[in-house]
Amino acid sequence: MFQVFVDPTIQRLIDATPGFMPRAEGTYLFDLAISCPGSSDHPLVEVGTYCGKSTLYLASAAKIRASTVISIDHHNGSEENYPPFPYFDQRLTHPTSHDLDTLKNFRETVRLSNLSDYIIAVVGDSNQYVKYFPKDTASFVFIDGGHSAVQTWTDFIDWSPKLIHGGVLAIHDVFEDPSQGGRPPFEIVNALRHSKTFKELVQVGSLAAFKRET
Ligand SMILES: C[S@@+](CC[C@H](N)C(=O)[O-])C[C@H]1O[C@@H](n2cnc3c(N)ncnc32)[C@H](O)[C@@H]1O
Repeated sequence: MFQVFVDPTIQRLIDATPGFMPRAEGTYLFDLAISCPGSSDHPLVEVGTYCGKSTLYLASAAKIRASTVISIDHHNGSEENYPPFPYFDQRLTHPTSHDLDTLKNFRETVRLSNLSDYIIAVVGDSNQYVKYFPKDTASFVFIDGGHSAVQTWTDFIDWSPKLIHGGVLAIHDVFEDPSQGGRPPFEIVNALRHSKTFKELVQVGSLAAFKRET
């Protein structure tokens, strides 16, 4: 048995990329994405690219699996990426529209990583794109898109059936203590704990994971 690590050059790029993925959670994301079942025909799926911080962990795993990460984002940010929320980053606003625009930054992250062969970027709404994505296809689904109740639940309901049997579902920003963050991801995890379809894996920081059993 040997352990695989994220390439140190990629790790430095990840550390320098704006985003919301602490290193311990990113390392766990990488470990989960490496070890889930499926072949190169079963992509890794990410909902919520932002500037590509988490995408690089998944692309590093996809390279080892000879697979691909499909990362979906409209790149206009979520509610919490706008004032008055603390997750607003003025540097990432479009110069004329003043909307958040993370696409240029994401493309530069991918270019610097040399991992573009392992990344397919879908620039659009996850609710729209999911309609064209077949069931029982993804080996791994990572949900980190819009964090409102409606959007988080919609992503969970839409994307979890896309997993193959044995595939892994990871959900970000799961906080038991409400003072640490919003409720929807935690509520979904609570529902999953009572489900017969998913078996809970270890949680690292705010990154929860479940294996599809049926
Ligand atoms: C918390 S950020 C993702 C952080 C990223 N995973 C990282 O590691 O830094 C959430 C992202 O979801 C995107 N998003 C929100 N609602 C969406 C939707 N309905 N469809 C596609 N992307 C969406 C936002 O544009 C934002 O970039």
